Amino acid sequence: MPEKRNQPIRGLEGIVAADTSLSFVDGQNGKLYYRGYDIDELAGRITFEEVVHILWFGELPNRKQLDNLRSSLVSEMRLPGQVYDLLRLAPPNANPMVIMRTALSSMGMYDPDGGVNTEEANMRKARRILAQVATIVASLHRIRSGLPLLSADGRMEFAENFLYMLRGRPPDEVERKAFDTTLVLHADHGLAASTFAARVTVSTLAGMHSAISAALASLKGPLHGGANRKVIEMLDEIGIPEGVSAYIDGMVANGRRIMGFGHRVYKTEDPRSRHLRKYSEELCNKAGLSHLFQISHQIEEMVMMRKKIRPNVDFYSATVQEALGIPREYFTCIFAVARSAGWIAHVMEQFRDNRLIRPTSNYIGGFDRKYHDIEER
Ligand code: ACO
Repeated sequence: MPEKRNQPIRGLEGIVAADTSLSFVDGQNGKLYYRGYDIDELAGRITFEEVVHILWFGELPNRKQLDNLRSSLVSEMRLPGQVYDLLRLAPPNANPMVIMRTALSSMGMYDPDGGVNTEEANMRKARRILAQVATIVASLHRIRSGLPLLSADGRMEFAENFLYMLRGRPPDEVERKAFDTTLVLHADHGLAASTFAARVTVSTLAGMHSAISAALASLKGPLHGGANRKVIEMLDEIGIPEGVSAYIDGMVANGRRIMGFGHRVYKTEDPRSRHLRKYSEELCNKAGLSHLFQISHQIEEMVMMRKKIRPNVDFYSATVQEALGIPREYFTCIFAVARSAGWIAHVMEQFRDNRLIRPTSNYIGGFDRKYHDIEER
């Protein structure tokens, strides 16, 4: 009988599976770095396109580089006609993350660089994918709501365009900054489950569309990006700030997970939630939804008291998006658009120094079983 292997590390906790210079999650000190820049240094000062430039090219862009990146993203925002058809034909009650994943996957068939994985082709695909994931989300919402599709406006930044194409009106300055910063804060996060899925996929030399489809599939789950949608449902269920205490007590007593709380890496506050809390308060007050912020804040205090667990990025991003008037079914899609920047950077990093990612498993089944013909079973 073969020799027994080591026990697996459940959830691969603490396992180092890749070198990366893209982002670092310092869970002990509650810090997040993009290419060495502390997120606290960047949040509120930098646009999403600048973060994309940092992640893809390693440096903050100068004015010319930023203008080039911005205009190339805007110029790539139109989808192939067949993808608009796919969005129109999708069942009306299908999960938008499922449609987004399917649409992105289908785009691989129409991409002129589809089967090519050179650095140059990947860079072209990177721009197309990032621009087009935003258009998929905005167009899906407008098609489902019977609203006319809108084209990107070359005078606007990526975040402004995205919100404009989704809602049909450009954001005001407060909304623009909050939404742009939300994208900045979601852009990359070490080897999250979805990022790992992307890297595993390209380690076989499958292309960028395959990798981003795998990442989208992974992000959808409620233990990852799907939590922000669950958060807003929890706030609805609680209804009023006075309902928080009984609700959280009930959840704790029944051993249930509180969505938007806890993290594999952070042992202290998730720095992204600190920034999002500020925008959540500002936007909820502005939108006449201050009760949602109050409920959220009380949940945060109660969960800390009862479980010593802090909010993660999904907790306050839910109320930020709600106050921005983004339909709830698209919350996880917004996260996906922002994280596409990071996924793409990881895909390119993996391609540059690739080795097939293929771990082993600890076999716990039997041996030496005898075959029986079907009549004898
Ligand atoms: N509510 C209640 N208890 C929790 C929560 C939570 N949200 N999160 C962790 N715990 C508890 C667990 O019950 C467990 O307790 P135990 O040791 O007494 O059994 C302990 O904390 C450790 O939990 P694990 O599940 O082992 O931690 P893990 O690192 O595997 O999970 C995860 C991390 C999945 C994020 C978890 O905290 C969770 O389920 N959170 C809720 C879903 C969520 O918000 N997901 C978004 C994550 S951030 C992101 O992906 C963008």
